[in-house]
Amino acid sequence: MTEAENEVHLDASTFQRPLEQLAEVLAQKVKREAPQLLSAPPFVAVDLHVLIRQATLDDIPALLRHRRGMYEDMGYNDREQLRAMISTCTPYLAMALANGTLHGWLAQAGDRVVAGGFVLISPWPSHPYDGKCRRATILNMYTDPEFRRQGIARRLMQTMIDWCRKAGFVHVDLHASDKGRPLYESLGFKSTNEMRLKL
Ligand SMILES: CC(C)(COP(=O)(O)OP(=O)(O)OC[C@H]1O[C@@H](n2cnc3c(N)ncnc32)[C@H](O)[C@@H]1OP(=O)(O)O)[C@@H](O)C(=O)NCCC(=O)NCCS
Repeated sequence: MTEAENEVHLDASTFQRPLEQLAEVLAQKVKREAPQLLSAPPFVAVDLHVLIRQATLDDIPALLRHRRGMYEDMGYNDREQLRAMISTCTPYLAMALANGTLHGWLAQAGDRVVAGGFVLISPWPSHPYDGKCRRATILNMYTDPEFRRQGIARRLMQTMIDWCRKAGFVHVDLHASDKGRPLYESLGFKSTNEMRLKL
């Protein structure tokens, strides 16, 4: 047999399936034996396809895309109003991410950001049940339509809730869209006594 005939031909597809199986075994092992690793930012949870990570200033375009997509999904279709929202939100997000009043999380599949949300920390008078003058709100939850109903928003929510708990908040608020409500209820969110007067 010549040297050339003796060569084994290998390409990426040869390894793909075994590597996927190995990744699955490792993911299960981490979940079982070191679950704390799944909630340590910036990389907080890994499975074969979707990674949850904290957003940086470079991710502002993705956060804006989510904000626009979320409102479009809720029926806001006035292009001028949406454009104005993006234009005022852009410098706000840059400032709030930089000064730590906003913490974003994104779900990434390969190079693509497919979902996200953020926690806003606002100044708020303290309560008898919470001595700190601040409040946490989850905002901007959005999953690209083709990635919905795979548990991605749930993982993002769980990550943000865990983060709020570790940061010492005693509760976290949000406003629920019709699509988001069942997910939030299943995570334990309850309606509050909040009211609104439209001005
Ligand atoms: C609301 C929203 C963020 C949910 O994103 P998502 O990634 O699809 O959420 P999840 O997959 O974690 O959960 C959604 C549903 O899929 C179900 N689900 C989760 N994993 C699933 C799976 N593997 N197979 C089938 N269904 C699944 C969940 O049980 C949940 O069902 P429910 O709504 O009946 O409770 C998304 O629909 C969205 O972006 N909507 C438009 C914008 C919006 O309304 N944002 C919320 C603002 S408050």
